[in-house]
Amino acid sequence: MPTIADAATIAPSDRATGRLTIPGDKSISHRYAMLAALADGISTIRGYSGGADCAATLECLRALGVEVEKTATTIRIAGRGREGLLRSAEPLYAANSGTTMRLMSGIVAAQAFRTVIAGDESLSRRPMRRVIVPLESMGAKIGSNDGRPPLTIDGGSLRGIAYAPEVPSAQVKSCVLLAGLYAEGTTTVTEKTSTRDHTERALETFNVRVSRSANSVSVTGGQALQPRDLSVPGDVSGAAFWCALAAGTPAGDVTIEHVGLNPTRTGMLEILRRSGARVSVSIEDPTAPEPSGTLRVASEAWRSFAIAPEEVPGVIDEIPALTALAAMMPAGQTLVVRGAGELRVKESDRITALAAGFRAMGSDVEEYADGFSLTARPLHAATVDAAHDHRLAMAFAIAATRSAGPVTIRGASAVDVSYPGFFDVLARLTHAESVDR
Ligand code: S3P
Repeated sequence: MPTIADAATIAPSDRATGRLTIPGDKSISHRYAMLAALADGISTIRGYSGGADCAATLECLRALGVEVEKTATTIRIAGRGREGLLRSAEPLYAANSGTTMRLMSGIVAAQAFRTVIAGDESLSRRPMRRVIVPLESMGAKIGSNDGRPPLTIDGGSLRGIAYAPEVPSAQVKSCVLLAGLYAEGTTTVTEKTSTRDHTERALETFNVRVSRSANSVSVTGGQALQPRDLSVPGDVSGAAFWCALAAGTPAGDVTIEHVGLNPTRTGMLEILRRSGARVSVSIEDPTAPEPSGTLRVASEAWRSFAIAPEEVPGVIDEIPALTALAAMMPAGQTLVVRGAGELRVKESDRITALAAGFRAMGSDVEEYADGFSLTARPLHAATVDAAHDHRLAMAFAIAATRSAGPVTIRGASAVDVSYPGFFDVLARLTHAESVDR
């Protein structure tokens, strides 16, 4: 339960301007750390995400015998080679991180020992059958709490499979591909709607051959990984909150440097444009393993907008920020989101929790099984609950800057999961007298 001390109060503000960099991308950080652990030698990863989720991945790797050294945002990992992980006597603890649990499951499913992976209260409610089913069909044995964590994985020799996940999920695709690194023969994942491709790119970066077509990706087992010296660009999903702040504030104008601009992650830019924002992008080095560059978002007009079902996988983590933008718009503007049932099984039930928070602040929100619609109304003072969800804490904080009175966010420290320091940056960009924490 949130405590009174764990609350942030955001005061209204008329300002949203500045230039900034943001912490390293969470998705890319997880993958680089895991692959570095399996490489033959020492890798250096600069700009590693400082969030609790990526720290959980490092702790899991340490529990499997991997030496990890961390100084500020640079980590060095002494890879043990593909076959070098050691059995952990204690359960691995993935904390709040679905990516840690689902991707690590793919790796430990191929080890000739038992691994237990547990998570916090929120992660313990999240569905894991989506990884249990393919890993069992590759040859692992997995016990669970009726399809939820903790997972008890008896790993061993795996065989390659061709798998078509039912839900579009980069975590599922990545789990199966990581297991495929160890499997006999070739493992192929075919998706109905493409999801973020960081695992494919990271595998190639660590010298694994991956074959990719429009909607399929294959990896053949038995390949060795080479250590690397890599830099993680800023997290575009964290940047989404500053984009929403700039777009939703009159004369708002924010520039974010060295942010990840992988096209499988930037669906929100098109949606921001549709909503009336001015968006400009310049790519730094198109040949880098992960594209990055400068992103500038400024407010120009405010238009009702919708997020269509086929767009959802490309903006799944940005929907809370885009909802904040809609709530900040002049009364009567709307946002409609459909085909987004996956939001109900994220760190919180994001449909219900977003609806509750924005209603408390004054918006009209109608909930559907697979989405919601929000109609902007004047925002007012309120107390809202982040529901143990980092993206909700940030979304409420952004919209709160346009409220007529202070908004208190309970459970505000959830931001540390992906964006430690978020409230300080918010204060700097808005000059709001914020943060009574
Ligand atoms: C992630 C994939 C997404 C996303 C999550 C991170 C990843 O989940 O919501 O925050 O790093 O692969 P799904 O792929 O399960 O939708």
